[in-house]
Amino acid sequence: TSDIIARAVEVLRENDQGAYTIPTKGLYPFQWNWDSCLTALGLAHYDEARAWTEMETLFAHQWPDGMVPHIVFHVWNDGYFPGPEVWRTGRATATSGITQPAVAGFAARRLFDRANDKKLAAERARALLPKIDAWHRWFYENRDPKREGLVAIIHPWESGRDNSIDWDDAFERVPTEGVEPYTRRDTLHADPAHRPTREQYDRYIWLVQHFRGLAWDNARLHDASPFQVVDPGFNAILIRAAADLADLAETLGETEIATANRARAQKGLAAMEQLWSEAHGQYLCLDRITGELIGSASVGGILPAFAAIPRPRAAAIAATVERLAGKVRYVVPSHDPGDPRFDAKRYWRGPVWLVVNYMISDGLAAAGHGKVAQRITQSSLDLIRESGFAEYYDPLTSEPLGGGRFTWTAAMVIEFLR
Ligand code: DGY
Repeated sequence: TSDIIARAVEVLRENDQGAYTIPTKGLYPFQWNWDSCLTALGLAHYDEARAWTEMETLFAHQWPDGMVPHIVFHVWNDGYFPGPEVWRTGRATATSGITQPAVAGFAARRLFDRANDKKLAAERARALLPKIDAWHRWFYENRDPKREGLVAIIHPWESGRDNSIDWDDAFERVPTEGVEPYTRRDTLHADPAHRPTREQYDRYIWLVQHFRGLAWDNARLHDASPFQVVDPGFNAILIRAAADLADLAETLGETEIATANRARAQKGLAAMEQLWSEAHGQYLCLDRITGELIGSASVGGILPAFAAIPRPRAAAIAATVERLAGKVRYVVPSHDPGDPRFDAKRYWRGPVWLVVNYMISDGLAAAGHGKVAQRITQSSLDLIRESGFAEYYDPLTSEPLGGGRFTWTAAMVIEFLR
């Protein structure tokens, strides 16, 4: 155990740039939003001050409207596409123009709760509180135009689950005409068979150009996007983060922030019921353009176990994970292997990711499903022992996939072993 932790710390140190950590060398040479917040949990095990800095650096690049971008391009690097010259968001330090799952509120609370240095933690958390709160407000103001309590993503990259089967049908509506010629860089660093396809990239880039044409005005982007999907995992993370931020704010005597976030979490939890599918034993995505649920059993619908969902929902999800465990050697696959579209090696169409495992097992343990939570933790540790700190893993064979020496994987391992 102590050997694995030492090896994980080595990965974190290797990717540490001083005030932020890159996800991995080559493939992802900048700061990514949710990578950083989850990485902070790993950093805290050996340097609490540095863990807070990780999140502060991210929030130093928050947009005036409250959005926290998904990439901050701190130092120029030509090994990544699309870089700042494609996004052209006009920020002093270049950033992308879309966001990512809002894990910050959860991470801040966890850092605070665990802190040995409570005085330092209170100081650093207090400064972050209004910023995280502004981000949460931004979500409901800009991504929930009918004030339903559910936010939409307008680009698959926002979900973090870039090429999930969930997006396939909705993505058909995103055109590819007019995409400026480009050269991918990701396929230089990782096996193209583990990555999204060329066709998907065309559509990713079409959306970026489309939003750029609207001057990244968040008041307009949602309605103008041909891709608007309500992802249950994305919403559940935001709901959990709002509840955690409310608790943290209460502890620190910031009652206004506490009240606002408590209300967001409650409204969100109630609205999540619309996404439940009894037939699938999990939540489903909603295509906001067609108004229909998307019949695709991805891990995005299992991830809501991370939030305080109703007890019967958590129990059904625990049963679903057990059912999946009968089909693969390592849980939780990012897609149900029973679906003919499942692909054990291609990014979010099948492989196991330790960050989602962490969030699911955390939620299931809290809901009293310790045995299933333990099964997920065990799979995660088996994968590390067999295949090292990869970006993701084949759920059937444990083959390491995507980038290597991966920061958030290492951070999660430290968390699993603590
Ligand atoms: C990528 O480039 O693959 C990232 O996932 C986008 O954030």
